[in-house]
Amino acid sequence: MQESSSHLNLSVQGRNLTAALAGNVFSMAQSLTSLRRTLRRLRNNLPPATRRRFDFLIHQNLLNSGILLRSTRLAGYLANDGEPSIDLLLDTCTKRNIPYCLPVLHGQKLIFKPYVLGNTLKNNAFHIPEPSCKQSFMTRYLSVILMPLVGFDKHGSRLGMGGGYYDRTLNFMRQPICKKAPLLIGIAYGLQAVEKLHRQAWDIPLDAVVTEQGLTCFSAKARLLLRST
Ligand SMILES: Nc1ncnc2c1ncn2[C@@H]1O[C@H](COP(=O)(O)OP(=O)(O)O)[C@@H](O)[C@H]1O
Ligand SMILES: [Mg+2]
Repeated sequence: MQESSSHLNLSVQGRNLTAALAGNVFSMAQSLTSLRRTLRRLRNNLPPATRRRFDFLIHQNLLNSGILLRSTRLAGYLANDGEPSIDLLLDTCTKRNIPYCLPVLHGQKLIFKPYVLGNTLKNNAFHIPEPSCKQSFMTRYLSVILMPLVGFDKHGSRLGMGGGYYDRTLNFMRQPICKKAPLLIGIAYGLQAVEKLHRQAWDIPLDAVVTEQGLTCFSAKARLLLRST
């Protein structure tokens, strides 16, 4: 399968995949594992200059969305495996004294610890750096979580690396009594968009996604809180 085009348009229904590539539509059976591999390879193959330009645009689109005006406590991530880097936002938050947290593995879930540039980081089991301080914040009291992803669709379904860590961490949002929850914003390159992902019962959907192309809101909450360009 040729993967160089940015026009890759994947449609996933359960484990079946239809892909339209540069105008040539073809069908194939492909597992989610294989879809993840394909999207990760596309993401990793972005030339460095393009990646820098896209990361800059993602930062601009995040600022334009108004999240920093509304966020009291924001969680981001440190890029891994070719994910978009949002270090520019970490810089901005550090300069503006906006509390910024990073995810830390805690058993099968994530907890969120405060981080400012220069603080000590320690690699976790996946070799991803994490803050090593003792303090952590309850997930439900974060205002926004910026989540990396492998794929997303136009309904806000999210495909992660396959560990289910964010889903388990955010499981409390599935309870009808859940009143307080962070706004979930996926961060991705446009080439990670797929036509339709099959959402499992445990999958927690995104409120919005930000790519180099702009902000897309999926939920009423996101439409209320964020500024589309
Ligand atoms: N709330 C949850 N409770 C228990 N297991 C979960 C929960 N959420 C996800 N999982 C487990 O994590 C695994 C990976 O989830 P999946 O959604 O495929 O990964 P990802 O979200 O990383 O793409 C699933 O097979 C599921 O068993
Ligand atoms: Mg999931």
